[in-house]
Amino acid sequence: MTDRQAFPKRGSDWPALEAEMAAMSGGDIDWRGGRTPLFVFDGDDGAREVGRRAFMNYFDQNALGGKRAFFGLKRMEDEIVEMGLDLFRAPMGAAGNLTTGGSESIFLAVKACRDWARARGGMTEPFNIVAPFSAHPAFNKAGDVMDIAVHRLATGADGRADATALAAATDGQTMMLVGSAPCFPHGVVDPIAELGELAAERDIWLHVDACVGGYLAPFFQRIGRPVPEFDFAIPGVRSLTADLHKFGFCPKPASTVFYRRAEDHDRGVFQFEDWPHGPFATATLSGTRAGGAVAAAWAVLRHLGEDGYVRVARDLAAMTDAYVAGITAIDGLHLWAQPDLTIINFGAHAFDIFAVAERLEQKGWLPGLTRSPKGLHAMLSMYHEPAREQYLADLAEAVARVRETGGTSQLQARY
Ligand SMILES: Cc1ncc(COP(=O)(O)O)c(C=O)c1O
Repeated sequence: MTDRQAFPKRGSDWPALEAEMAAMSGGDIDWRGGRTPLFVFDGDDGAREVGRRAFMNYFDQNALGGKRAFFGLKRMEDEIVEMGLDLFRAPMGAAGNLTTGGSESIFLAVKACRDWARARGGMTEPFNIVAPFSAHPAFNKAGDVMDIAVHRLATGADGRADATALAAATDGQTMMLVGSAPCFPHGVVDPIAELGELAAERDIWLHVDACVGGYLAPFFQRIGRPVPEFDFAIPGVRSLTADLHKFGFCPKPASTVFYRRAEDHDRGVFQFEDWPHGPFATATLSGTRAGGAVAAAWAVLRHLGEDGYVRVARDLAAMTDAYVAGITAIDGLHLWAQPDLTIINFGAHAFDIFAVAERLEQKGWLPGLTRSPKGLHAMLSMYHEPAREQYLADLAEAVARVRETGGTSQLQARY
């Protein structure tokens, strides 16, 4: 191998490193300018700055040692969980913990559910999970590791889970039903109340994946937007995941997993003692965890508070409405689903929407694509407000051009 980076012989000082790193990132998509439709989130300048400062103050602490050394971090972590339980209307006796992201939170809920299914008996292994087609791949990732099949069922015409189809797909091996609030592809909340009834009736575990929208949906509800109920107020909801590092506007990596019953939380905890140090227990897949992320999440939640999240929710709702109005005003474009929060998915019948995406790409936009239905996709946060007029102008131009030339595209949808 000739082109492999050699381990550095001599160290470098910060100014040189900083310049080199800036050069490495110089060709990135202009994400701060709102040109990426996923990956990054912004609420407001204050939250970003508070998160950054808190993160830096605790950047070298390790949340793994919260119980034995970093008592401040442990206290912050406990308080974050309590704030989440309150927000998601969990009954007393409910429990949860912080994780490094939605995938880890989902993994832990699936593990807890699997251990419950084993303890409950009456279900045959291998277990399965029944989910709408729109559910996040993290369920398959967890299933892959734990040998649990995931049966995905087509969503309804409105992009939401089809509860009747999910009911028909459950069998004697089904341990978990999944609903999203909202799902990532179409931005709509699944009929959680219906799924809750089904879960209760069949004694199946209902998991609500509120990773993307959990920390925003309650505030959209508070400002009068018709976001369907999705949390522990629905009796059948047994666990719920919600990411702080998405619409909680906290720095990455930070997510939460909650359980209606503390005993279910215990099932997510890994315990071991057959090694020289004796008892070892973690509620996460990760061992060492960034202290900065815990401190930053605590600080951002406290900095914004309910009134701050409501204010950001108002800004986001107004911006999403403006995007939707602009998009649907372009002849030939239509929404694939009516967004419950800020995720939009739209397409076209008369021309190739991926050809439109290709033109947008040429103009420096990273297009988000869905394959079924074939469409453009964007998860809007406040990074996207300054870019709105330019995006809509470029979109209109791209549509006009594709209609004129009848162009098609070889672009493939991918995450
Ligand atoms: C609905 C949903 N669930 C789970 C995840 C996984 O989250 P993470 O990327 O933090 O692991 C995402 C990520 O976008 C998501 O949108």
